[in-house]
Amino acid sequence: MSQLNGKAISVIGLGVVGLTTAVGFRLKGYTVTGIDIDPEKVIKINDGISPIYERALGEALKKTRVKATTDFEQVLKSDISFLCGGTPGSANGAIDLHYVQTPVEQLAQLLKRKGRPHLVVIRSTVVPGTIDEVIAPYFSGLPEVGICANPEFLQMGTALEDFMSPSRIVIGENDRKWGDILVSLYKAFSAPIIRTDFKTAEMIKYASNACLASKISFINEIGNICKKLGIDAYGVAEGMELDGRIGVGHLRAGIGYGGSCFPKDIAALVAKAKEVGYQPNVLQQIVALNNSQPKHMIGLLKKHVPSLKDKVIGILGLTFKPDTDDISESQAIYIVEMLLKEGAKIRAYDPQGMHNFQKLFPNIEYASSAEKVLESDAVLIVTEWDEFGCLDYKGCIVVDGRRVDAARKDARIYEGICW
Ligand code: UGA
Repeated sequence: MSQLNGKAISVIGLGVVGLTTAVGFRLKGYTVTGIDIDPEKVIKINDGISPIYERALGEALKKTRVKATTDFEQVLKSDISFLCGGTPGSANGAIDLHYVQTPVEQLAQLLKRKGRPHLVVIRSTVVPGTIDEVIAPYFSGLPEVGICANPEFLQMGTALEDFMSPSRIVIGENDRKWGDILVSLYKAFSAPIIRTDFKTAEMIKYASNACLASKISFINEIGNICKKLGIDAYGVAEGMELDGRIGVGHLRAGIGYGGSCFPKDIAALVAKAKEVGYQPNVLQQIVALNNSQPKHMIGLLKKHVPSLKDKVIGILGLTFKPDTDDISESQAIYIVEMLLKEGAKIRAYDPQGMHNFQKLFPNIEYASSAEKVLESDAVLIVTEWDEFGCLDYKGCIVVDGRRVDAARKDARIYEGICW
């Protein structure tokens, strides 16, 4: 085991999770090599440019260079490999393991000829049972190779901050000696460490995301009732959050959640539950409520603009949350689809997400500034970018899905979705 003391790290898959992991360990002084199949991404990273918009990560990458390569064989120069391939959803909700299984297969082939200890760390979000049933068998017959699960809890927009100051570090292990290596690697961080088996570690990740999503759908349901009763859901959440059992965060009512994590992870957990003969009603209701929020928003818009045909509807915010350029499963997608069906003309603006949205909707109008969107017949606020809090909404009809105070105070007609 002494060979692992140098702790040279390779990170396989340089998406937001991989790149953050690579930069984060580099900042802690470890030797890190990033590996990805995309040569353009690798060139950018070697030039100190982040291929994704993540403010702190981009700044750190400029200062702390991470060596990146497309040459998979470089893993042989490391002692620990973090596998960070994405696990996108498939049509039936189950995860597509392609970006995990392919590198695992390559890794297993390479490690056959390494002849020294190597720890493989699964950081990708994989459903309970995946490591035992799918990943571990590739390494059977390689006693010098250990496996650990180490799910990530990084939020887009604050990924590097979350990595450097983790709420907890979860380590799944089937042999304590390998887990010890990960524990010693994470000594440089200050966070509680949970050590458990593979399946429990995998489930902690899904249960955490499902719980956060359930808080959002719960407060949105309360908010929808509040709206009818003339109550402000934000005041209600404030009163709830002081109860430590409920906890602070993910109780901001509004248009609902999106992103590349919650929707896909809940679908995967639902699919897994059904596979083992359990009907996950609560999880399905979280999704149903979330899917209904965009319709609810259009309903509120129609109170003030009954016929949307040929009306110009402004959309402020296209990304699934602020401080990212990611539009995955953004509620903006469903809102734009519904508006187009009703014959509305769309004028949209987002500080970072327009290039991605354009790939899905090439034929809508993209405004050069947020101010230009305010010249529309009505405005929908879909993402709470800071700059939307500094606009002059006087004279506008606004339906707000994210609680932007400036709009709440100044708009001519204002509808908050849950307040
Ligand atoms: C989520 C989790 O928060 C991370 O802990 C986890 O590591 C990550 O998924 C993952 O699986 O990799 P993320 O999707 O980046 O992170 O973003 P969140 O900040 O959780 O927001 C998700 C969605 O919920 C966004 O659309 C956001 O606008 C919405 N949201 C969040 C609300 O509508 N209300 C809230 O109170 C909070």
